[in-house]
Amino acid sequence: MKSRHDESTLPAAKLSRRGVMKLIAFGLAFSVLAPTLPALSASLAETVGQKPLIIYFSMPETDNPDSMTREEDNSVVVIQGKVLGNTQYVAQLIQEMTGGDIFRILPQKPYPTDHRTLVELARKEQRQAARPAIAGKIENPGAYDTIFLGYPNWWGDMPMILYTFLEQYDFSGKTLIPFCTHGGSGFSRTIQTIQDKQPGAAVIRNGYSLSRSRMERAPSGVAEWLKEIGLKK
Ligand SMILES: Cc1cc2nc3c(=O)[nH]c(=O)nc-3n(C[C@H](O)[C@H](O)[C@H](O)COP(=O)(O)O)c2cc1C
Repeated sequence: MKSRHDESTLPAAKLSRRGVMKLIAFGLAFSVLAPTLPALSASLAETVGQKPLIIYFSMPETDNPDSMTREEDNSVVVIQGKVLGNTQYVAQLIQEMTGGDIFRILPQKPYPTDHRTLVELARKEQRQAARPAIAGKIENPGAYDTIFLGYPNWWGDMPMILYTFLEQYDFSGKTLIPFCTHGGSGFSRTIQTIQDKQPGAAVIRNGYSLSRSRMERAPSGVAEWLKEIGLKK
């Protein structure tokens, strides 16, 4: 990306000795902080106005809005008669509020919707460090500088298919914005894991996490958060 400051225009010749020392001190401070906050806010500021991409994985445990079990009810929201996974709902709100494109991570082999079977399978995948295959791919990942990445908390971590995903794409130079839904654990350590998996990306730390028992707060919560990070349309 082209720098907005042309260094040749700096009035170096006219600087006093103190000015030079200040510049050196600033340079040192900048080189220490650059990989973290300033780089992040600069990249966020520069990407406002561009179309973001919203990527998510979600596992609604039913598609029937009537007579749900408690577990099924926990894992979905019903919006105008349509059943959406919790994370799917948050992803759709982000899309509406940012005008972005959306990509859903789907497993090649569909997961079971029965709660107990799903919970056990997810645990087994985690123990085995499985990399479940993904169906389909993002057409043009290079077209996006700002990428939201959403998932449910599974066993205190991301679902293993997120690991498949993060190992399949390289988001170096891009801003990754995590969001998740959960049953009380919040993000756990997942934001750091995303950063570890994508060392060349700027992963923002104040992602959005929402408890499945507070889904009615999603519209206002997402709007406030997007405003906070400067990405509301
Ligand atoms: C396999 C599995 C494991 C889960 N593990 C956790 C957990 O460790 N901590 C937590 O807070 N919630 C956990 N949950 C609850 C989900 O994070 C929560 O229901 C989430 O909103 C589901 O989102 P979804 O409908 O988009 O898939 C788990 C749910 C499932 C199905």
